[in-house]
Amino acid sequence: MLFHRVKPLDKILENAEKKSLHRQLGALQLTLLGVGAIIGTGIFVLTAAAAQKAGPGMMWSFVIAGLVCAVAALCYSEIASMVPVSGSAYTYTYAVMGEVLAWMVGWALILEYAVAASAVSVGWSGYFMGLVKSATGFELPALLSAGPTWSFAGGIPSVDFSHGVFNLPAVVIALAVTGLLMIGTTESARVNAALVAVKIVALIAFIVLTLPVLNGAHFEPLAPNGWFGNGGGSGLGIVGAAASIFFAYVGFDAVSTAAEETKNPQRNVPIGLIGSLALCTVFYLLVAAGAIGAIGAQPTGLGVQPGSAEFVAQCKALAAQGQQPLVCSNEALAHVLRMIHHERVGDLVGLAANLALPSVILMMLYGQTRIFFVMARDGLLPESLADVHPKWKTPHKVTLITGIFVAIAAALFPVGQLADISNSGTLFAFFMVALAVLILRVKDPNRPRPFRTPLVWVVSPLAILGTVFLYFNLPFDAMIVLPIWGGIGLLLYFMYGYRKSQLAPGNASE
Ligand code: ALA
Repeated sequence: MLFHRVKPLDKILENAEKKSLHRQLGALQLTLLGVGAIIGTGIFVLTAAAAQKAGPGMMWSFVIAGLVCAVAALCYSEIASMVPVSGSAYTYTYAVMGEVLAWMVGWALILEYAVAASAVSVGWSGYFMGLVKSATGFELPALLSAGPTWSFAGGIPSVDFSHGVFNLPAVVIALAVTGLLMIGTTESARVNAALVAVKIVALIAFIVLTLPVLNGAHFEPLAPNGWFGNGGGSGLGIVGAAASIFFAYVGFDAVSTAAEETKNPQRNVPIGLIGSLALCTVFYLLVAAGAIGAIGAQPTGLGVQPGSAEFVAQCKALAAQGQQPLVCSNEALAHVLRMIHHERVGDLVGLAANLALPSVILMMLYGQTRIFFVMARDGLLPESLADVHPKWKTPHKVTLITGIFVAIAAALFPVGQLADISNSGTLFAFFMVALAVLILRVKDPNRPRPFRTPLVWVVSPLAILGTVFLYFNLPFDAMIVLPIWGGIGLLLYFMYGYRKSQLAPGNASE
């Protein structure tokens, strides 16, 4: 009985038709939108964490995470071309698997979008402080430039404030972007295109300067922590790093959230999804090869989790000896360039990250408010959350609440941990989309599919298995967040959404 509240596809399409947004985006703009959401903290910052986990074998980590995203993107393309409306994975699940699972997906998308916004804020903070130090020599006290370190060893949370207490710059950027969104500054396609250009130029400069000094010896030993680290739950090794660096690819699904604003969505959405992902994959592999090839991965110690108290202490000890390995840097790409004596370009790449990362935060926060908006419209969240400000014409309440939570998480957690938690929610959403594609093929085989996932009975199961595989290779503390978060979500659903839903008996259903 739990799965009986399905929102029929035809109804969703009919509603979207009635209140549809202006269709103005083409294939190129969608691809740029995707690249704008994808390239961010993952490549600019988490390359260092991946190097610590996998060593030079992180090249394979980028390949594995990219492959899982590629098969997931093929699934997204089929369903987004069939149901080109906003709400993304949440809406698709509502149509195919019913309300309770849709709620769970929407609930998990909070991890994807809001926690990702926190992660990117922390990533920005590292680059910002690096740039300030390089330009003026000024350094904030460590207590104000990083959050504490957390450990969940044995399932018991413990927190260590000795290396950081409150990440002030991360809070400032998260709140600043929230303010912009509240007063209605959604990024225009032109600003997005300019920022995408800044990011691409920065990555090209990095590749051009690092590949010529590539030293084959830096790729040995290829996998100091092996493929799986020291077993399940460690999140280490090549596969553990793949589960983390998956974050670098997240964002292509933002293209599907723009489906309602796209011209000829059946053709352009798949192009945007797959095109942006393919472009970023090529860049990532070249950047990863350049970073390792130029200065080596230099893990601080085998089996040590990046971001842990032990890791921070090791980095401090190395710094005291004048050593600055890649894995310890908060601004990985700028650091590599400075180490190979391109200080000036390193600063410029840092500047590019400073300029462009806030747009990724904006995309993530915007995506989050959109999802909340659709969920409130369906009655699963209080309708007042979707209130639109009379002057700013934005859902200011939900934006402010989201922004405050994003800022708190950014203040208190390290970037790697936030990214891993975000990944757990994203992997769940991708898993559900891949499943929904298969279910729809069986339940509704004759519905027109403008884009058909090729070899769907191979590709979708691969996406399902791939997302499960990566999920179980996240560090234990990130893995455990999803079921706990899901449990809280389920409780809230039965306390609120179950009764208030538009589809509940007696409630007005449009
Ligand atoms: N892929 C986005 C980033 O790396 C979320 O920042």
